[in-house]
Amino acid sequence: MSNWRHRPTDEKELFRLIAPVKAIVKWVKSRRGLVIGVGILKGGTGKSTSVLYLALYFARVLNLKVAVVDTDDNSQSISRWVTTHKALGNNVPFDLKVHPTKGADAIPLKKRLKPLKSEYDVVIVDLGGGDKETFIDLCAEGRLLLMPSAPSGWETDRIQATLQTASRAAVLNPEGLDVYNFFVKCDFTSTLPEEEREAMALDLSEEDEDFVPPPFLHPYFDISKAPHHIRSWNVMPGRSDLEEWGLLVRHAMKGIIEEEEAA
Ligand SMILES: Nc1ncnc2c1ncn2[C@@H]1O[C@H](COP(=O)(O)OP(=O)(O)OP(=O)(O)O)[C@@H](O)[C@H]1O
Ligand SMILES: [Mg+2]
Repeated sequence: MSNWRHRPTDEKELFRLIAPVKAIVKWVKSRRGLVIGVGILKGGTGKSTSVLYLALYFARVLNLKVAVVDTDDNSQSISRWVTTHKALGNNVPFDLKVHPTKGADAIPLKKRLKPLKSEYDVVIVDLGGGDKETFIDLCAEGRLLLMPSAPSGWETDRIQATLQTASRAAVLNPEGLDVYNFFVKCDFTSTLPEEEREAMALDLSEEDEDFVPPPFLHPYFDISKAPHHIRSWNVMPGRSDLEEWGLLVRHAMKGIIEEEEAA
């Protein structure tokens, strides 16, 4: 499934938008413990599926050591995905870390992340849809926050509130947090992503001084609703299924790498 609507005009234009794989690996290895949060304060938008594909891309394609942290006490989808695939005899190329947010084993996310940052190249945190405190902790500790949702007001409804929470919490972040929105579940045959991008950029409550313009990635890097995403619950995605995710990662990392080089 190809996003022909927003395809860059040629290779030169594409390479202007994405970082080379080698530069990403070098950058990550030079600091270790790149923390990426995937979260929106809303359920069912495609967070866990995105976490899975991102983890598979970093581990399998970039050969980096990856931990996935499941903070979702309610659905624990990523934990159950790992159990399912191990039972099927599949090789899961990342380590799973469960982070209970309630009960006797609950500790702050910051404490959970500390040892992981020195042990792993990349730590991807599935923030679930609910726990605001964990979300705020990630904004203060992570380097990148990704907010996937379908291009529909039903799914983007909480994004403005999430952005406001993130921008308040990121003030405490010593490294700086880059936040990006992108759409998943796109079929590229309709103008839904364009319509929704426009709708989200409008501040409907004029009195709201806290309005945060949604920081969208370039529309070419929207993620398709190719059926392998839906099948991935019990069918391991193949290498070619990770291609669009690779482009998205390379696009998001280009901004971060250039920002730090310029600093
Ligand atoms: N790129 C995609 N293409 C097609 N379907 C998708 C895609 N991403 C997610 N989905 C589907 O959307 C639904 C919700 O996905 P997922 O469980 O990843 O969301 P979530 O945000 O983690 O939900 P929760 O808040 O319950 O943890 C699932 O049915 C999943 O198969
Ligand atoms: Mg989930």
